[in-house]
Amino acid sequence: MNIQKNISLKKYNTFGIDVKAKRFISISSFYELQQLLKTEKDFFLISGGSNMLLTKDLDTLVVHIDIKGTSIDRIEEHSVSLTVNAGEDWHEFVRWCIAENYGGLENLSLIPGNVGTCPIQNIGAYGVEVKDCITKVEALEIETGKLVSFSNQECQFGYRNSIFKNEAKGKFVLTSVSFQLTTNKHQLNTSYGAIEKELADQNITKPTLKNISDAVIAIRKSKLPDPKEIGNSGSFFKNPVISKALFAALLKEHPNLPSYPVSDTQVKVPAGWLVEQIGFKGKRFGDAGVHTKQALVLVNYGNATGLEIYQLAKKIQKTVFSTFGISLEIEVNVIS
Ligand code: EPU
Repeated sequence: MNIQKNISLKKYNTFGIDVKAKRFISISSFYELQQLLKTEKDFFLISGGSNMLLTKDLDTLVVHIDIKGTSIDRIEEHSVSLTVNAGEDWHEFVRWCIAENYGGLENLSLIPGNVGTCPIQNIGAYGVEVKDCITKVEALEIETGKLVSFSNQECQFGYRNSIFKNEAKGKFVLTSVSFQLTTNKHQLNTSYGAIEKELADQNITKPTLKNISDAVIAIRKSKLPDPKEIGNSGSFFKNPVISKALFAALLKEHPNLPSYPVSDTQVKVPAGWLVEQIGFKGKRFGDAGVHTKQALVLVNYGNATGLEIYQLAKKIQKTVFSTFGISLEIEVNVIS
């Protein structure tokens, strides 16, 4: 086992926060992980590092999951079943699916991170959530070293949520994710306004998987910062769910407040809109800032510390609450 000392985690988290791990190991096979779990139980896991804000040096062992590999389990008349190891890059996997004409994940193009973490927050974009295609998640139980399999239902998926953020949190290392994708008669999801517009602008009336993926990539590139250029973790806040009574009261003062239906009594409102209204869009405090084109995304212009980003988030939460009476919940995992 090659455990390294005092390693900077800057290149392992998309926010580009420069904290150090006292001990660090990169794991590239299932076998290595099993061996590690025989002696180490207390560690911090990092995979794509795309949904975390590191605010301090880590004294525990940091385990970087880098297990690669994809296998085709079964091909049926209209579908294919695949198992993908946790360390595969998400977007590269999506583009491979498109090249193979496997449908289902095209709307989730260009989401940063690795395959192994996609079920944790049930990544979603442009009308699709990854739970719609996941059949199984496999994980090693840290305490026992046993391989445990979670069916789609057992993952308890919700909006940016799953069992891995709740009762299973900290107990497992996710090792692979299995998907069922279509091989023909694809169920295309183009109803999201921005996709419709992008396709119409290009005069595409019968879109292919690649057309949709390309449209999503164009939309994301126009609104969201590329972590390779500006450090960020995508949506920093969840879109809050509020009561219809509060929504009606707010509408009187803010007639343009957008909303998405949730239930008879509740609606979801976009956090990005709220943050823009309080004047934080594009604001910069040193190297910590709010993205100029999407107020839902906090950014690191270079040398911001995790604490500086966190303090900015708290300022935003406080102002949104005093202005609208809405509590903004942080979506990113803050490590403090
Ligand atoms: N808006 C503003 N100002 C802003 C940003 C947004 O007024 O600065 C308004 C927009 O005009 C629109 C509404 O807010 O009316 C919603 O914005 P958008 O369609 O851009 O989507 P979102 O709700 O901000 C969610 C996901 C994204 C996902 C998009 C597209 C959450 C927390 N975020 O964003 O996910 O890509 O929908 O489906 O649900 C991510 O999780 O990292 C992520 C980027």
